[in-house]
Amino acid sequence: MMDMKLQTKTKNRVGLDIGTFAIKMLEISGAPDKPMLIGMGLKNISGPSKGSISDSIKALADEAKITSREVNISVSGPSVIVRFISMPRMKEEDLKSAIRFEAEKFIPFNINDCVVDFQTLTKDERENKFNILLVAAKKEHIKERIDLVEEAGLSVHIVDIDSFAMTNAFTRNFPNLGSEKTAAILNIGATSTNLSIVRGDAMAFVRDVSIGSNDLNVTISKDSGLSMESAEELKIDPKDKMQEIANCTKTLLSSLLDEVKLSFGYYENQSGKSIDEIYISGGAIGLVGLDEAFQDALGSRPSFWNPLGFLDASSAKLDANVIDKIKNSFAVSAGLVLR
Ligand SMILES: Nc1ncnc2c1ncn2[C@@H]1O[C@H](COP(=O)(O)OP(=O)(O)OP(=O)(O)O)[C@@H](O)[C@H]1O
Ligand SMILES: [Mg+2]
Repeated sequence: MMDMKLQTKTKNRVGLDIGTFAIKMLEISGAPDKPMLIGMGLKNISGPSKGSISDSIKALADEAKITSREVNISVSGPSVIVRFISMPRMKEEDLKSAIRFEAEKFIPFNINDCVVDFQTLTKDERENKFNILLVAAKKEHIKERIDLVEEAGLSVHIVDIDSFAMTNAFTRNFPNLGSEKTAAILNIGATSTNLSIVRGDAMAFVRDVSIGSNDLNVTISKDSGLSMESAEELKIDPKDKMQEIANCTKTLLSSLLDEVKLSFGYYENQSGKSIDEIYISGGAIGLVGLDEAFQDALGSRPSFWNPLGFLDASSAKLDANVIDKIKNSFAVSAGLVLR
């Protein structure tokens, strides 16, 4: 007879999201259908007095009481290219070289310097074609990330893409979104915003927009003559400068949402479907005037979602208030522990 313990005993999984502003780390254990939150933590790595990123990862792993030494990480930014392509139906073994050939057309770097991977999303029987999600990432960029982790005394299990991880966390939290519903998910960070469009449980569009909350520091410091550090403080707590900060935020959000609107338009044109709901996460969702900016630019207000909603946090020796305060920043790491 099969040992039941063996069946449910699975290795702990750790997600490590190395952002430009903060590192996020999350550990879960238990069977995939009822994962438990074991440890989590967030560490700010921006500012002049901070040490190396590796040291911060190491310190965070200790502070967050992470037990496993093996972590899942992700990459993003200009060295990562994601495309949805369609290919004529062909044998699996031919597909790989055909895709590599196809990829060369739009990868702005030498394909030999890239890791190329793909996933067949759907097989369109009627039109005799495959819809494929293609990813190319610069080897050098991946290696840099792995080195950071190894210098911190940890090892890398899986390398994912920020926006894919975020999307996985979302679909895990909303398994019943409905096949006829389209949701847009936005993760607004420090230097970039991950955008993904999900229909039912399938990812239909992804894109990173290089606009984030750090851009606001630049504007505030330009307008007020303050240092970047003071601008960061003022942004979080505007005190008597509320109106000035609100104006700067409005400008930033309108350029971000212009890009988002373009992507929505592209998706709507391609698919003939419209976006039903918008969900947001990321460290920057506390920006003043966010709701109104979305209403003005996209015609609807965004909803918040809890990236950790699918986890049982009851046994975690963590302060519920702390979890609540930082949970919005964990969309990427919550997706990483699912791999
Ligand atoms: N209350 C707030 N209002 C506005 N911005 C905020 C607030 N709290 C945090 N932020 C900003 O959120 C950003 C950090 O968010 P997050 O941790 O998601 O970014 P990141 O993952 O490090 O960055 P990226 O993914 O772009 O590399 C910082 O720019 C920070 O200033
Ligand atoms: Mg981020």
